[in-house]
Amino acid sequence: MTNRYGVILAAGQGTRMKSKLYKVLHPVCGKPMVQHVVDQLSTLSLQKLVTIVGHGAEKVKAQIGDKSEYALQEEQLGTAHAVMQAANHLANEKGITLVVCGDTPLITAETMEALLAQHERVGAKASILTAVAADPTGYGRIVRNAEGHVERIVEHKDATEEERTITEINTGTYCFDNEALFEALSNVSNDNVQGEYYLPDVIEILKNKGEIVTAFQTDSFEETLGVNDRYALSQAEKLMKQRINKKHMINGVTIIDPDNTYISTDSIIGSDTVIHPGTVIIGDVAIGSDCEIGPNSEIQNCKIGDRTVIRHSVAHDSSIGNDVAIGPFAHIRPASQISDKVKVGNFVELKKAVFGEGSKASHLSYIGDAEVGTNVNIGCGSITVNYDGKNKFLTKIEDNAFIGCNSNLVAPVTVGKGAYVAAGSTITNEVPNDALAIARARQVNKENYVERLNQKKNS
Ligand code: UD1
Ligand code: CA
Repeated sequence: MTNRYGVILAAGQGTRMKSKLYKVLHPVCGKPMVQHVVDQLSTLSLQKLVTIVGHGAEKVKAQIGDKSEYALQEEQLGTAHAVMQAANHLANEKGITLVVCGDTPLITAETMEALLAQHERVGAKASILTAVAADPTGYGRIVRNAEGHVERIVEHKDATEEERTITEINTGTYCFDNEALFEALSNVSNDNVQGEYYLPDVIEILKNKGEIVTAFQTDSFEETLGVNDRYALSQAEKLMKQRINKKHMINGVTIIDPDNTYISTDSIIGSDTVIHPGTVIIGDVAIGSDCEIGPNSEIQNCKIGDRTVIRHSVAHDSSIGNDVAIGPFAHIRPASQISDKVKVGNFVELKKAVFGEGSKASHLSYIGDAEVGTNVNIGCGSITVNYDGKNKFLTKIEDNAFIGCNSNLVAPVTVGKGAYVAAGSTITNEVPNDALAIARARQVNKENYVERLNQKKNS
């Protein structure tokens, strides 16, 4: 098989984004644009992938990691100049080089495969991925001759009025014979409105040499959307969201209102799970089968088992078992481990809390830095007092313990197996197994108090 190489252009600042964040790092459905491109390219069995970095180089490299090699473009003199920076990595190679812009997050591996297939079939030196845009403003236009063959690409800013009426656009994805590409690059000039070295000029250069140049027109303009500003970013977000939601629905997940359901690219959801409106699933999330998630819930980096229900709640960086009931209005903060059949009810906040099987905190609790055994019942309003202003301490509540309502467990402290804590207690010492701890003042009733009070007032 022919060798394949990839180049991603990601050195630009992205001026039109008007942002402190470098353009290609802007997320679409939670994943930076350039990472979407890298992930698609990674499935194409490339011998080498080179990312051209410049603005925010360190941040872009940190994002992509070792999935790519890098070439630095110190000054952004245009897309042709950008590709030229990969010469050290690629110039001596034989094969096909795919060039993709880091700001086209919706491009798919399938479409790039189709482009590569046509390129190889016709033995072209260059093939352009094109699309027909309802509004081609800003894109390079594909100029074809009388026979319909591609002649050249003209940038929007350089185009005549007549050329601007062309609706077939350059998507910014191409494949080239590698040697022909690097040879042609040295002949690109910057004699144009923007004073830049345009990669699209390579097309005309190769054409003038009599080489075969083709265009592969995809019928999905949406997939080729180039994100230059926040409006296009919102369009990309919407399209990506539709793509992700559709994938899950085809896989057997019910999404009640796909327009108002936001699922990160790499999340996994089991069949017969129902996602209710207003649910936001962020980062690395795996949800089992037969769950009910939402409405109005935010789940980030969590692993969730089967048949679990999470309503109107927030859960971050935690693991949640099977048959768990969470919410409404619960907050599961990072490093919590919730076993099977646990209940975390309304207005309960957990932080770094381990809950054993069958344990419950049903109402109005804060349980932080805690190890809760199995079948523990934490009464309404009970809290762990985990922080002395400087350090955090551990509370242990062992199997089958029962914590009465509105108790304070002042850490470090342990409530032993099967022990009871009387309602309203402030527990500062260990409670032995099977004991009852009462830590509050005894009730005193002052009989006929009101009568005596009234007598005092009248005297
Ligand atoms: C480019 C194409 C245009 C095409 C459109 C598709 C050129 C001259 N124009 O226009 O024909 O229709 O993409 O979306 O190529 N970059 C660098 N170094 C540079 C300049 C750009 O790495 O010196 C990177 C940018 O970070 C970006 C990509 O190349 O990821 C495209 O650059 P951009 O300025 O967005 O080009 P467009 O004007 O969109
Ligand atoms: Ca662009």
